Formats: sequence, structure tokens, C-alpha cells
Amino acid sequence: EKGGYEHFMIKEIYEQPKAVRETMSSRLAKDDSSVLLDELKWNKHDLKAFKKIFIVACGTAYHAGVVGKYYIEKLARIPVEVDIASEFRYRSPLLDENNLTIVISQSGETSDTLAALKEAKRLGSRTLAVTNVVGSSIAREADNVIYTWAGPEIAVASTKAYTTQLVTMFMLAVYMADLKATVSPERSKELIKALRNLPGQLHEILEDVEPIKTFAQRYGFNEDVFFIGRSLDYAVALEGSLKLKEISYIHAEAYAAGELKHGTLALIIEGVPVIALATQSDVYEKTLSNIKEVKARDAVVIGLALKGDKQIEKYVDHTIYIPDTDQLLAPILAVIPLQLLAYYAAVTRGCDVDKPRNLAKSVTVE
Ligand code: M6R
Repeated sequence: EKGGYEHFMIKEIYEQPKAVRETMSSRLAKDDSSVLLDELKWNKHDLKAFKKIFIVACGTAYHAGVVGKYYIEKLARIPVEVDIASEFRYRSPLLDENNLTIVISQSGETSDTLAALKEAKRLGSRTLAVTNVVGSSIAREADNVIYTWAGPEIAVASTKAYTTQLVTMFMLAVYMADLKATVSPERSKELIKALRNLPGQLHEILEDVEPIKTFAQRYGFNEDVFFIGRSLDYAVALEGSLKLKEISYIHAEAYAAGELKHGTLALIIEGVPVIALATQSDVYEKTLSNIKEVKARDAVVIGLALKGDKQIEKYVDHTIYIPDTDQLLAPILAVIPLQLLAYYAAVTRGCDVDKPRNLAKSVTVE
């Protein structure tokens, strides 16, 4: 059942080109002019009614929500608040019929997410579920559902669910942007074309994992690792650090690079590995200056950048490249090396990759 792979996690990492392709394939117009989300049937008046959107989820799905906020705000220009389900449900959120609440859940069974969804409904909000399991409790409870077609995810560490959630949030944002005319038809086409390139680009990353394996073996016995990045790179940093913690038990922290000076820089000492994500062109120079700050404290910096970026090599000890893409889609590629790093670090340390200690695949109790 593991199809020749040693663990479900690595099998599922390798399934991402297919999972991403299946999630988008029937939802893009043949001529790339638009995203077709027949499951929604919204018109521009429906969208006008959404004064604010809430995205609520747990764990990795929450991290997909952080990226989703960025997509919707940037493309569809609707304000979005992202929250962790266990916080949202108990904080008396200010919701009514002028809101849309989007819950994201691979399993569709996470109890806090389900409770958050019920609370949003009770307050009158419209609801949309993004889930991977057809007929799950969350799918049944929401007004609308968009399924991620990732196929069954068995490993506790979520991988292909995350990338397909990002693709879904991206398609949703482009769909909303088209309806609201907040992006030009040309830009929308460009984004859809970039989306179509992803499966091939994911495949390209997965063809050459040796350098990442080497880093994992080399740094797998460090007890602390830091992930830094700005804007969408920060969102991916959050996911990279969770992945590393949950399966390799290495203490990892993700920091918005600009926040380092406000405390965390005190922890950066000689030899501490820092993974610096630098895929976002609009904050690239700012990220480089943060890289210089950690380098000045003798951290070992691994840069993660888009192919063709030669500048970064001057500032870091090692560079991992991902194929060039629109910066909005970079998270979907950038997370792959981080998943692999976590996987190989866990293997190096002899951890039970598919069933990490104390964790369950689906958290159906509070
Ligand atoms: O099934 P869900 O997407 O609702 O699960 C949410 C989290 O429990 C899940 O993403 C968890 O954080 C993963 N183990 C992360 O790899």
C-alpha cells in the first residue's frame, strides 16, 4: 500500500504533482480565461455582500489559511481575518450575514473546526468548507464545499493536503477577483497559466532531492532551527517549522524576518541553522538585510530562492532553488524542500515518521 516507498509521508510528498493537477484540472477554463467553481454559483452581488471573510482552521490547514488571506486580500480586495479554530470558537467573534466564513480541514472531522463552523452559522454567517473528504462532517455542515482532490492522506504530517489547499485558495481568490473585476483579464490569464505549470515544476523539485537529504543529515542533530521569511515566505516558514517539529522533534521556530530584532535575534548564535526564504520579489531586499543580520551572528544560513537568483548566494552558506514562478504561487513550490527536509531529518534521527509521538491524524476530541 506504500507503493514501494518506505513511509506514507514520502509517498504523499511524491503524489503532490498529481494531487495538485487533479485539484485544478476541471476547474480551469480551457482557454485559461477563468476559474470555474461550479460548486459556488456566486454572482457579483453575493460577493458584494461579503464585507469581511473569516478563515478558520487548525495546524497545517490554518497555515493554508494564512496564505489564503493573502491571496483573497491581494486579488479580490476583501478584508480577511484568519484564526485558529480553538481560539475563534471561544472568542465571541463578530459575525453576521455580511460575512463569509471559510473553514479548511483535510479530514473534515477536526472537532474545533467543526465547532467553529457551527458557531459561524449560528451567528448568521455564510459558510464554505475546503476539505479533502467527501461527505465528512464539515462538508455536510457548510453551505458550500470545495473539495481538494488530494486523495487519501494517511501520514500524520500533512503534505499533499496543504499544497492542494493552497491551490484551492488561489483558485477561489482568482474566481472572486474575476467577479469583482479587481484584476484585469490579462493578469487573471497569466495567473492561471502559472498555476497550470505547477505540476511540472513540483515534479522537477522532486527529481533532485539529494542536496536536501544532505542538509537534513548534516543538520539533523541540531536541537534548534529557525525559519525566517517575509509576507508569503513567512506563511510557508510557519508550515516548514511545524513539519520539522512534529516528525523530527527538532525545536523549530518560524519568524517574520522583520520581527527578529524584537527579541529572537538573541537566540541566534554561531552554528544555529537558519532557513531563510527569499522568494518574494517585493520584499526581497528587506529579507536580504535580515539574512545579513543572522549571518553577522555566525548562523549557518540556508537560503531558499527562485531559480535564477544569483544574488542570494553571496549572503548565505547554501542555497536551495525552486523553479521560477509568479511570486503568489511560490509557496506551493517552496514548501516542498521544507517537507523533504523534515522527512529526511526525521529519518536520520530514527523517528517514527508516519506516526509521530503524541499525535493523531485527525483530532476529533477537544
Ligand atoms: O484534518 P484537518 O486538516 O482539520 O487537521 C488539522 C490539523 O490537525 C493538521 O493539519 C495537523 O496540524 C497536521 N498533523 C500537520 O501536519
